[in-house]
Amino acid sequence: TVHTIKGRSIFLIGMMGSGKSQTGLKLAELLKYKYIDLDTLIEKLAKKSINQIFNDEGEDNFRELEANCLKETIKIPSLVISTGGGIVTKSENWGILRQGIIAWIDLDKDIAIERLKNEIKNRPLLQGKNLNDLYMSIFQSRENLYSQADLRIQVKKENIEEVALKIINAIN
Ligand code: S3P
Repeated sequence: TVHTIKGRSIFLIGMMGSGKSQTGLKLAELLKYKYIDLDTLIEKLAKKSINQIFNDEGEDNFRELEANCLKETIKIPSLVISTGGGIVTKSENWGILRQGIIAWIDLDKDIAIERLKNEIKNRPLLQGKNLNDLYMSIFQSRENLYSQADLRIQVKKENIEEVALKIINAIN
């Protein structure tokens, strides 16, 4: 259990397709916190989609933008922040994440892959033949990083509100 410090932000981390954005929105609503989706913020500042950023500038530049946007979020208290799945891969990001409470949305992999089947278009890292293999190799390279979170929220069939409540219960 992690105790809330009033005003401490909550970062949601986890694989693509784990429901970080929807869960974050619901969590913010329940806590009366403001909500930021980091990918959306990056797209607004770059004035292009995640796909376009990857295509035009490459992944490394995307990671720079992502790190810069993440830094901005700690200027504001009481936020729920949904991050992109790769936020954990840059070590400097952990210094920022650690200023808040980090919750790993650990969605069952079969459910995640099933969901991602309809959503690969917006995910440059999932372009390729075998979604299952792509997912697994990304997951394996990051599992140890995700497990550094303060809270691991295991999810199977729970709906968004149930996941948000699980997080709240784990914090209090
Ligand atoms: C990425 C996840 C995406 C997005 C980008 C890279 C990743 O966000 O940031 O495509 O490296 O896992 P979601 O986790 O919201 O899909």
